[in-house]
Amino acid sequence: MTTAIYPGSFDPPTFGHLDIIKRAAAIFDRVVVCVMKNGGKENGLFSVKERVCLLEELTCNYQNVEIDEYEGLLAEYVKFFQKPVVVRGLRAITDFEYEFQMATVNKKLNSNVETMFLVASNEYTFLSSSVVRELGKYGTRMSCFVPQIVEDAIREKFPNSIPPLHLVASE
Ligand code: COA
Repeated sequence: MTTAIYPGSFDPPTFGHLDIIKRAAAIFDRVVVCVMKNGGKENGLFSVKERVCLLEELTCNYQNVEIDEYEGLLAEYVKFFQKPVVVRGLRAITDFEYEFQMATVNKKLNSNVETMFLVASNEYTFLSSSVVRELGKYGTRMSCFVPQIVEDAIREKFPNSIPPLHLVASE
C-alpha cells in the first residue's frame, strides 16, 4: 500500500491545503497529513495540538486520511511507512526552487524518499497561511481562504481585532 505523506506547518490549514489533501486522497490508498516544524519559522499562531485538531475536524469525512505530528526530520519520519511518497503542492514557479532543494536534500538523507508535486488549483495559487494570519489580525472576513472552523479559531486568537469598515459594509 502506497502512503502519501503530506508534510507542512499548517499554521493554520487553508482551502489550499485542503485542495491538496482531497486530491491526494483520490490518488493514494492512504494519506497522512503531518504537522511538522519548519526550522525557518518562529513559534506559530496555533500550537501543534491546535493545528492537528483543526486538520482532524476538516478531514473527518475522508476515510483514508489521517493526521499526525512529528518534531524531527521528514527523511526520518517517512521510515515509519512501507511505501511512502511525499506529496507537496506547487503554487507558482517561486515555490519550485525551495521544493526542489527540499526534495533533493530529503533524497540525500534517505534514498527511499520520493517526492511528488500536485499543482495547486488556480484559485489557491495566491494563498498562504501567513496571508490568512495577517488578515486575522485585522478582523477581515476570510470565508474564501479558510473553512469556518479555522476562521472562528483565528478570531479567538485576535479577539480585539476590528473589521475594516468597507468590508463590513459589503457583507
Ligand atoms: N495552498 C495554500 N498554501 C500553501 C500551499 C497550498 N497548496 N502549499 C503551501 N502553502 C503555504 C503554507 O501555508 C506556508 O505558508 P506560510 O509560509 O505563510 O506559513 C507556505 O505556503 C510554505 O509552505 P510549505 O512550503 O509547505 O512550508 P511549511 O512551513 O508549511 O512546511 C515543512 C515545510 C514543515 C514540510 C519542512 O520545513 C519540513 O520538512 N520540516 C521537517 C524538518 C525537515 O525535515 N527539515 C529539512 C527539510 S530539507
